Amino acid sequence: MAIRNIRTLGDDVLRKTSKPVKEMTERTKNLIEDMLDTMYLAGGVGLAAPQVGVLKRIVVIDVGDGPVVLVNPQIIETDGEQSGLEGCLSLPGKHAIVTRPNHVIVKAQDKNMEEFTLEGEELMARAICHECDHLDGIMYVDKMEGELMDVPAEDEE
Ligand code: NI
Repeated sequence: MAIRNIRTLGDDVLRKTSKPVKEMTERTKNLIEDMLDTMYLAGGVGLAAPQVGVLKRIVVIDVGDGPVVLVNPQIIETDGEQSGLEGCLSLPGKHAIVTRPNHVIVKAQDKNMEEFTLEGEELMARAICHECDHLDGIMYVDKMEGELMDVPAEDEE
């Protein structure tokens, strides 16, 4: 286990399209463990592999209900709408208003490459959309309404 360096906006790797994971190797399992450790240490609710410089379709999320690992995620259904503040570990200290679906269903594989589907609402739906966007080189600044704002110091983690 190790903490990886989180790439920040301006790093080219964040704008590239990630490749599907074809088989689960020890190396990829280590990557997933490192991503979880890195996300928890940074106080984020999600992290995508390109944020640690690896162009693989893997995201980890924990909105407070325990860790979720999505390998090769595909959003298969979206419903409703939510508008709210969104941040990203690749833009520390910033956030902006982004509108996302309020409900999503995502199909993915787990760390054993077993397929599963997961439903997410509210923050979970937002996190799934945000992290899946990273796999296609999309950042929330591409979708924000209005200006990027500074997170008030007392709210910062
Ligand atoms: Ni992000």
